Amino acid sequence: MCGIVGFTGNVPAVPILLDGLERLEYRGYDSAGVAVVSPGRGLQIQKCKGRLQALRDRLEALPPLEGTVGIGHTRWATHGEPNDVNSHPHVSQSGRVAIVHNGIIENYVEIKDFLLHKGVKFRSDTDSEVIAQLLDYYFDSCADPLDAVYAVLSRLEGAYALGILCADRPDMLIAARKDAPLLLGYGDKESFIASDATAIIAHTRDVAYMADGEVAVLTRAGIQVFDEYRRPIEKEHHFIEWDVSAAEKGGYAHFMFKEIMEQPEALRQTISPRLKDGQVVFEELNMTAEDVGRFKRIFIVACGSSYHVGMVGKYNLEKLMRAPVEVALASEFRYSAPLVDENTLVIVISQSGETLDTMAALREAKSLGARILSIVNVVGSSIARESDDVLYTWAGPEIAVATTKAYSTQLVLLTMLGLWMGRCLGRVADGEYAAVVSELQVLPDKLGEILSGTDIYQYLASLYFNQDCIFYIGRNLDYALGLEGSLKLKEISYIHSESYAAGELKHGTISLIEPGTLVMSLATYDPLLDKAVSNIVEVKSRGAEVVALTTEDHRQRLEAIASHVLTIPRTHPALQPNLGVVPLQLFAYYIALHRGCDIDKPKNLAKSVTVE
Ligand code: M6R
Repeated sequence: MCGIVGFTGNVPAVPILLDGLERLEYRGYDSAGVAVVSPGRGLQIQKCKGRLQALRDRLEALPPLEGTVGIGHTRWATHGEPNDVNSHPHVSQSGRVAIVHNGIIENYVEIKDFLLHKGVKFRSDTDSEVIAQLLDYYFDSCADPLDAVYAVLSRLEGAYALGILCADRPDMLIAARKDAPLLLGYGDKESFIASDATAIIAHTRDVAYMADGEVAVLTRAGIQVFDEYRRPIEKEHHFIEWDVSAAEKGGYAHFMFKEIMEQPEALRQTISPRLKDGQVVFEELNMTAEDVGRFKRIFIVACGSSYHVGMVGKYNLEKLMRAPVEVALASEFRYSAPLVDENTLVIVISQSGETLDTMAALREAKSLGARILSIVNVVGSSIARESDDVLYTWAGPEIAVATTKAYSTQLVLLTMLGLWMGRCLGRVADGEYAAVVSELQVLPDKLGEILSGTDIYQYLASLYFNQDCIFYIGRNLDYALGLEGSLKLKEISYIHSESYAAGELKHGTISLIEPGTLVMSLATYDPLLDKAVSNIVEVKSRGAEVVALTTEDHRQRLEAIASHVLTIPRTHPALQPNLGVVPLQLFAYYIALHRGCDIDKPKNLAKSVTVE
């Protein structure tokens, strides 16, 4: 999704903006641009389609843009194709105002008509340009730029994070936010805005998260923030715990590979503070055991891989709590008139904490009276702030579009939550509870064992990287695991892939199996191993190549029937998907590497999906 960075200080803005935009590249984009403002020279802008390097090349070929106040943007096209004109910043007709925008202005057609009737000429096909033109229109009648900004915001419908420069006020950058992420950074005689902390972490770790309706005025003297009624407010400051190295590749070829390798540590950070004397303890929860006893329905709501975590979670939570749990895609849940009331718990899962569909589902559930508990990675994100309770995954910044360490930490945290709620309800036997806790303690090490040898995945990728289609099959927890394995593969390698509940094969899917078709058979769920074996035989007898994934103790049995066998250490069944996902991540990674794909920034995808 679009990325915004803005700066006011005493040094040239452009290098800081370009560095920030580079750190936001992971969000996904198709064009980029910067604008600076300076006394005497007004607004100066450069923008173009393509990677940031294209913008850098263009800037190098021209006289430098001089100014110590500026805004930068990476655009992920929604309204209007990716081209130079549709790139941000957008400038008003008179050249007085430049803006960068993340989000969608839903009533832009109506505003555009209004301005066209006033004689305004538009250059781009974007919804965003109306903001620059409308600001310019109000500047004629408003003495103070802030008056114009408030007048414009009152007319906008939709979502926005905005950075605004005015030629008449070269000392000032204005920011505004509604339903799209934006944070403020406090430096030494310099201030920043950014879509996320990675953009400015090299300059400051002192940040505040803007809330909906807020407007900020940044000058060298500092930052003033106003609420939607223009009352000055004091923002709570947060210290970013991680440093700049966490958002850099650190010698790895790709962020995705680095993040796969970081999983043992990410699990440790997520698990250890919540395990005390053999008990799962959530000091951060306001929820009591009595609250848990009152819930009559439980939903897990999320998108993409976070939804896949929910799929595993359904199996685990139902077993641990002996209570029904429904999993819903956020984009479906929000429009399904969900049967939610004040006796419902909605568990919302999101790495970014900014996914628009997930946010909308949260708000829908909240408006119906549900209690919201979110599992989120990005501290201070919108979903975290609007939830009644938050459990943070301590995975650190995840840069690769394909999630790995965030998935793993979400998964373990959800299982721990199930264990905790099961105990609140008195429905987990002591032995079972102790068995899961004991495996939680060694889970990071077991995951580390899998990562200690990657040759087998490289070898399999060299055999199968030319496949047109790869199927994932499994039952129960292995079915839920297959959904994630299949998504990992298709999003970064562009190979078509499907994941099926293995029991469904006979109901249609098996007709797709031909000689040479690759089937990833997931057989890590011990209670259904015999069924998994039968399914392997079924597809093998139709000519499929089978790569089986199982635990070490079943290697021999599967070697007798599968083409290749991948093994993982054994753990408690509820935690087995936490180990099972790692070979699937590595397999997808090496396949994409063989195919020469842009692994960290797959085509058409964005890290944080802040539009519907
Ligand atoms: O930030 P979120 O967890 O809310 O994102 C949800 C999905 O967009 C995300 O999990 C997506 O499917 C992953 N990039 C897949 O690897």
